Amino acid sequence: MALLIINGPNLNLLGKREKSIYGDQSFDVYFAELQQRYPGITLQYFQSNSESEIINKIHEVGFEIDGIIINAGAFTHTSVAIRDAIAGVTSPVVEVHISNVHAREEFRHKSFLSAVCKGVIVGFGLDSYRLAIEYFLK
Ligand code: DQA
Repeated sequence: MALLIINGPNLNLLGKREKSIYGDQSFDVYFAELQQRYPGITLQYFQSNSESEIINKIHEVGFEIDGIIINAGAFTHTSVAIRDAIAGVTSPVVEVHISNVHAREEFRHKSFLSAVCKGVIVGFGLDSYRLAIEYFLK
């Protein structure tokens, strides 16, 4: 099984950014832990601060990979284009968020992506990504 994790804008700063909300672990360290934990899965990771690069990556892998786990960061709340990219490919996509967006500012309560994703995992810290992997393993 091959899964791609896509992280959107500012998620390259995990471990340094707003630690009280997002924790103090870098994604690279967490990703290495996931790879160790799931040796049977080909786990790939892509991060970009650019909407177009995220769309291009979804197009590139979205007709062959077994699943995409996406945390589109702030683009979640703004991007019709990423939503259309997800809707346009055949690989199942799970939306994740580290923080509980529903317990935060109102502008974070709306996701343009949720309706075209298989499901949404929100608010479990970095563990949200692992829970998404568990979905694909079922
Ligand atoms: C986030 C929540 C978004 O509202 C925010 O813009 C992020 C991170 C999360 O994982 O909690 O960048 O997607």
